[in-house]
Amino acid sequence: MYKKMTRITCIAVFLSASTLLNATDLTKAYSMPDASKMIEKDLLKPAQKFTMPKECVSTDKDSLARGEYIFHNLNGKKAKATPPTGLAKFIEKKDKNGKVVKKPKQYGNCVACHNIEDAKGGGNIGPDLSNYKTIFMDTKVRDNAFVYQKIADARIDVPNTHMTINLTTGLFNEQEICDLTSYIVSEKK
Ligand code: HEC
Repeated sequence: MYKKMTRITCIAVFLSASTLLNATDLTKAYSMPDASKMIEKDLLKPAQKFTMPKECVSTDKDSLARGEYIFHNLNGKKAKATPPTGLAKFIEKKDKNGKVVKKPKQYGNCVACHNIEDAKGGGNIGPDLSNYKTIFMDTKVRDNAFVYQKIADARIDVPNTHMTINLTTGLFNEQEICDLTSYIVSEKK
């Protein structure tokens, strides 16, 4: 009986000592970034409904060329052709220390998921957008505002869509969404 008690005491002392050791404050020993803040920053904002700006969709050749360029390219580093008026391969951004650095501009890479006229290896995760004008616009199944919203934030229409979110995330600005919309609904040769 006495022996058993000693063993229990020994175990108890050992356990409390190891708890103490484990409880040692190590936060000073290494830097601990606030994980919840980091996760919040990366979280997608809720779905947002946008109003299409006036005179957004046009047949202006520069706008159509920009839409086509954004649709078919991944980023400025990989893009081969010269960007049309109003787009650049590299953009200036401030890094963490406020220093201005040149970064390749991100484009839409819409061809990864969609086929369209003159697409090289168009994907099939999203619907084929070839003949969009004839099939969807002339028949009034879709209108410009629908296409604009779809590219800006597809979740308004399809909450669990696989499509990329482009305006809510700030990947593109309003003009660039208008350029993409103009390109998709345009008459192609
Ligand atoms: C990761 C795959 C993916 C990428 C990249 C992608 N899409 Fe989509 N897209 C989809 C899917 C899936 C749908 C169908 C579901 C939906 O409507 O949200 C869709 C639907 C659409 C539609 C609606 C067609 C219709 O009339 O129903 C348009 C327009 C469109 N995408 C344009 C674009 C443009 C422009 C880009 C590039 C900025 C792009 N997509 C990039 C997957 C993608």
